[in-house]
Amino acid sequence: MPAASGVAEAAAVLRTGGLVAFPTETVYGLGANALDARAAARIFEAKARPNFDPLITHLADAADLPRLVGAVPPAVAALVERFWPGPLTLIVDRPAVIPPIVTSGLDTMAVRVPDEPSARALIAAAGVPVAAPSANRFGQLSPTRAEHVVAGLGGAVDVVLDGGPTRCGIESTIVDARGVRPVVLRLGALPVEALVEAVGPVDVRPGSSGQPVAPGTLAAHYAPRTPLRVGAAESAPGDGGRRGFLAFRERPAAGAWAAVEVLSPEGDLTEAAARLFDALHRLDAARVTEIVAEPVPDGGVGRAINDRLRRAAATWH
Ligand code: TXA
Ligand code: MG
Repeated sequence: MPAASGVAEAAAVLRTGGLVAFPTETVYGLGANALDARAAARIFEAKARPNFDPLITHLADAADLPRLVGAVPPAVAALVERFWPGPLTLIVDRPAVIPPIVTSGLDTMAVRVPDEPSARALIAAAGVPVAAPSANRFGQLSPTRAEHVVAGLGGAVDVVLDGGPTRCGIESTIVDARGVRPVVLRLGALPVEALVEAVGPVDVRPGSSGQPVAPGTLAAHYAPRTPLRVGAAESAPGDGGRRGFLAFRERPAAGAWAAVEVLSPEGDLTEAAARLFDALHRLDAARVTEIVAEPVPDGGVGRAINDRLRRAAATWH
């Protein structure tokens, strides 16, 4: 149903233990009442998600954070103040009201306030924190349109709110700011440069934590069904195979490629991020035997785009 008019009904579904897919500014989320262990368990089932992969809890408003978890460390509070609502997920201590299944048994919890009015209205109307991973099957491409959710999860979801294509197109940046120096656990829609400007130096250690705390950081993730490799347009082997090319800004010479997607003709990384998963979904549907994806400039959100491409490629190598 349309996100604008479906909020009240979807909130009622959340309150009674159901699953609601909803748009955020990053990607579509698959939401359940984060206070209800059985509802949260349905998320893992619907996504075929391993139970060691913890969920992000979503709040309607930054003021709800101290109500849920009490006081937070000063650096966490500073990031909340600066970037919420927005594509930044922060690590805090798990409060006792959040059942351990939500955090996969960790004593920490990932939490954010999405910058999307319908999402915040939904969470506020539900009156509970909402646990929500991306609304895709585990390891597959993230959904940036309601159509992606329906195609990927279909009947496993009670309601899909359709808010059109998401603005950012890639997931939130995850930061653990509880220690001396903030650590980026997952590169995402909020560029590292913005974090540094706000709080000074940060460490970037996606996937280095030694325990599976951020499987969005597993080497192989975010993968299309079609084998993908990272490479340049010149690298098309002349063997007549049907290949797809994901270009950053320049359309390669026709002939070598059966399907081409250009992320941003103007070379704008924000636009490229917004189109990334949609373009990969389309190449996946083009029935090519291989997708070759061109890396983008590695600054700003480009770093998170390249991270996604590398992980998609790792699934096939
Ligand atoms: O943009 C987003 O973050 C989207 C939208 C729906 O909000 N959600 C999302 O969720 O990307 P998901 O489940 O696809 O990715 C959540 C990531 C996982 O890599 C998980 O391991 C990590 O967050 N995570 C969750 N709780 C954590 C914790 N306590 N410590 C470290 N990482 C955690
Ligand atoms: Mg995900």
